[in-house]
Amino acid sequence: MRFQVLTLFPEALRALAGYSIIGRAIQNGLLSITATDIRRFTTDRHGTADDYQFGGGPGMVLKPEPVFAAVDDALAAVPDAERGATPVVLTSPQGRLLDQSIVDEFAAAPGLIIICGHYAGVDERIRAGLVTHEVSIGDYVLTGGELAALVIIDAVSRFVPGVVGSAENVQEDSITSGLLQHPLYTRPAEFRGMAAPEILRSGNHAEIERWRRRQSLERTRRQRPDLLDAARLTNADRAYLAGLGGNDDDDAA
Ligand SMILES: C[S@@+](CC[C@H](N)C(=O)[O-])C[C@H]1O[C@@H](n2cnc3c(N)ncnc32)[C@H](O)[C@@H]1O
Repeated sequence: MRFQVLTLFPEALRALAGYSIIGRAIQNGLLSITATDIRRFTTDRHGTADDYQFGGGPGMVLKPEPVFAAVDDALAAVPDAERGATPVVLTSPQGRLLDQSIVDEFAAAPGLIIICGHYAGVDERIRAGLVTHEVSIGDYVLTGGELAALVIIDAVSRFVPGVVGSAENVQEDSITSGLLQHPLYTRPAEFRGMAAPEILRSGNHAEIERWRRRQSLERTRRQRPDLLDAARLTNADRAYLAGLGGNDDDDAA
């Protein structure tokens, strides 16, 4: 999967490429991340990529000409057959909130072109003439789109086949599964007076699965009850939740 990020600060994109799962996926040829400096596409000798707002107001606005030229250049690097299926994403606090459905949609694409705004934002003609998806990573405002681009790349990459060890790992994660994940424990069995639950060390796989499912249901109900409406629940899940009544103590088991 090819991620092409257009930014005034390409150095900010280096954060993901050099280590752990994403770094390894790049080395293995499963992903590529290129960060292109929008200033490369300016035409004046000062490399002016931003300008004052028409009508007045604080902050500079990213100019349309270098961004259109940078997107044209990025699209030219995409094979003909993949161009139409390559989203052009604007990072923006005004966009749709990033969630699993957007991550799934992007992961099915051959690549993404991601535009990072900065300062006051981008000229509206960029939105109107270039962008296929406008995405926010949360209801707060960042100084620039670079961190948002990294979040999108990281979240999408986990769903590119081969990037995370086994497909099962990602499907069982919180949110992706529709619920929050059950508590996790590793050695030592006892730490500072806190014991890992006996059941997890029993070797009884059916009982372990049952315990995990129940923990997952309880935790979701307590921390993200909104998820339960859309979660795929069995009759046994519903009966278990109904039986919980008002008692929200879970992790103590
Ligand atoms: C300071 S913000 C501009 C906000 C703009 N004045 C507005 O009110 O919509 C600068 C840039 O940071 C990025 N950005 C800020 N908050 C973001 C968020 N929550 N999600 C994604 N990108 C964000 C966008 O690329 C944006 O153009």
